[in-house]
Amino acid sequence: MQRRNNDRQAGISEAATLRTLNAFAVDLITIPTVEDLFWYVAQNVVGPLSFVDCVIYQANDEQTELVQVAAMGEKNPFGRSILNPLKIPFGSGITGQVAKSRTPMIVDDLSLDENYISDTSCARSEICVPIVCGNRVVGIIDSEHPKKGAFGPAELEVLITIAALTAAKLELLAEADRSKQRYHDLVEAHAELSREATNRKALEAELFNARKMEAVGRLTGRFAHEFNNLMTVISGNLEFLEHDVPEGGPRETLKAAQDAAARGGVVIDSMLAFSQRTRLSPQRVDLNDILRAYCADPKKVAQDEVVMILGEGLHSVELDPEVFEKVMGNLLGNARDAMAAAPGRGDRIAISTRNTVHDLSHQRPLSTNLAAGNYVRLSVSDTGVGITHDRLHQIFDPFFTTKQVGEGKGLGLSMVLGFMQQSGGTVDVVSDAREGSVFHLYFPAK
Ligand SMILES: Nc1ncnc2c1ncn2[C@@H]1O[C@H](COP(=O)(O)OP(=O)(O)OP(=O)(O)O)[C@@H](O)[C@H]1O
Ligand SMILES: [Mg+2]
Repeated sequence: MQRRNNDRQAGISEAATLRTLNAFAVDLITIPTVEDLFWYVAQNVVGPLSFVDCVIYQANDEQTELVQVAAMGEKNPFGRSILNPLKIPFGSGITGQVAKSRTPMIVDDLSLDENYISDTSCARSEICVPIVCGNRVVGIIDSEHPKKGAFGPAELEVLITIAALTAAKLELLAEADRSKQRYHDLVEAHAELSREATNRKALEAELFNARKMEAVGRLTGRFAHEFNNLMTVISGNLEFLEHDVPEGGPRETLKAAQDAAARGGVVIDSMLAFSQRTRLSPQRVDLNDILRAYCADPKKVAQDEVVMILGEGLHSVELDPEVFEKVMGNLLGNARDAMAAAPGRGDRIAISTRNTVHDLSHQRPLSTNLAAGNYVRLSVSDTGVGITHDRLHQIFDPFFTTKQVGEGKGLGLSMVLGFMQQSGGTVDVVSDAREGSVFHLYFPAK
């Protein structure tokens, strides 16, 4: 490196320098980004200080390369544009050497310096100062002059001060970025925690529900079993009495007792079904055939009461046709009640069937676990009052009813669920208080 001679050319005045540096120190606070900072330094700090040009380089994170990112003078024809922005490896040329050594440099006569990389027009002298943050070079402030020995200690001191102020601001911007990132990470972590807590709550609710159903199922099963034995004895004895009791008043009393026993029998059947203790006689059937026959029976379905949309190529299923009729009776009974409570919404029951595959991507959990596989889905939908969200978890509980005393026992859906589980499937419900309800019954495909 050659030292400058005494008749330096850049000739910066002390007063102007102080004014510019003062303005820089004040403006620094408001400069928002690294890019703005580099352009500000080139155009508003070095520019007014009688340097004929200035190029600012930014170093990459790997500390291997410098890129021209801001300029003033020949390299900067207008606005924030740089003519042919150069990339210079660390160690190459004068700027590359300054970046590598982290030491400022003045070259008095570039024509004698073999390291000089000519950029736009050929210069004769050059001053080059690194911007250092911690132990890293983040950039270079470089200025060239067409005459020899243009730069001396005064220019060096000014550029070193500018580089130090720039480095301080860069540290602040980096810290602001880190704070922003930390804040962002915190918000993310908080959101993740909330998601986990919500999932956990949902899982706990599901588990609680599953355990409750299991416990209620066991209890109902035992209770129904005991009562079934008693009811068998009572019905049997009443039947014996039939022959001995005379016509008239005593006969009517006997008949009333027999009717009550029969009603008790129906309740016990539903309870046994819920606890999956019904003796089923499954047969392989085509669900569409069974449904067509069921809906064609005027004792079960009124004319035009039901619209059927039956899927084609339906897999066979195995079910007990007699018990299945009770399932349909319960679902249609509920649909009728729901539509009577919200008349004028179309009053339409639709029955549809289709093949479906149940897998882990299923949108939401079903009422009870269902193994992955092929199923035939039977859907019964109505345009009735619908079921509010808080009741959805209760409707399958035995004895849960919203109907008047004497109108409902709350055993219909628990019987449906028990039957479906005993048949290897399950039942799911989708309901909206404005649109009605759909009950989906899943039968394993055979
Ligand atoms: N399609 C439906 N639309 C609206 N609510 C329904 C529907 N199906 C069932 N529910 C609600 O679920 C409750 C339980 O139904 P479930 O069939 O088990 O008993 P129930 O109809 O009240 O009495 P029953 O033992 O006579 O069937 C009903 O009381 C009702 O509140
Ligand atoms: Mg019912």
